[in-house]
Amino acid sequence: MAVAASGYLRISATDVDAWMDFGTGVLGLMDAAREDADGARFLRMDDHPFRFMIEPGDADRLLATGLEFPTESDWLQAVASVKSAGHAIEVGSAHEAARRCVSAFATAEDPCGNTVELYWGRHLDYVPLASPTGVREFVTTYRQTGDMGFGHLVLPAPDIDAATTFYTELLGFGVSDILHPPGMGPMRIHFMHANNPRQHSLALFSGEHPLGVVHMMVEVGSMDEVGLAMDRAKAADVHFLATLGRHVNDNMCSIYILAPGGIAVEYGYDGLLIDPETHVATVSDEGDLWGHEYNFPGVN
Ligand SMILES: [Fe+2]
Repeated sequence: MAVAASGYLRISATDVDAWMDFGTGVLGLMDAAREDADGARFLRMDDHPFRFMIEPGDADRLLATGLEFPTESDWLQAVASVKSAGHAIEVGSAHEAARRCVSAFATAEDPCGNTVELYWGRHLDYVPLASPTGVREFVTTYRQTGDMGFGHLVLPAPDIDAATTFYTELLGFGVSDILHPPGMGPMRIHFMHANNPRQHSLALFSGEHPLGVVHMMVEVGSMDEVGLAMDRAKAADVHFLATLGRHVNDNMCSIYILAPGGIAVEYGYDGLLIDPETHVATVSDEGDLWGHEYNFPGVN
């Protein structure tokens, strides 16, 4: 059975307080008011106990992506698939599972060295979102099918074909779109959906990235809430990696801003919903309908 969603991220931050200020004050996420013995802080966006675990570290980078499976038997099958394909995979301790608020998880690396944590059985506490900036809701669920995960992320994958095989053949992702970004030669981005209507929950970029993630995305329920986030980011003097624009493949209307330490966060509205059972993969030669003018820090 296929992976259900990209459920959570673990992020290493050299300045956890700055990341929390950004997460709450700019993104509008809720401080989950949990702190663990290792100094991690937690951000929530819905009735999950957290979606982002911010851990103190020597570097700013993505540590791991939590991938959700619907049941214990689906999870066991996925773990067995990864193992039988020759990849190392290790079941986490009960303590580490409790820290993630999951019933069980197992850690593996994809063929490009990105760490994934396969889990099932998230423990929900149903505390409603109380966004410190008044965000009404983050788009994380679909009423017919349940969890759609926190949003999406793009991972670096220089060996993109091996990584795509890992996510599709072993974990059950489906390819949604293959993008040839204009002006980037042979580079490709493979967008993949989990077994939920979000057009992509995870994508692979055929290059390196020093932070272990090309960008992560969260979605809000109206264009005004994207605009309000733009205003908050400007007021907080946050770097805009891209102006407002609309993507072609998932229709997301979004901005890109940099979190403390440099991870790019896409903040969007109006993402396309698909039927994961019947979706036919597209091949795109354009990334945007309009906008998304990039401004990489230090590059003129
Ligand atoms: Fe994106």
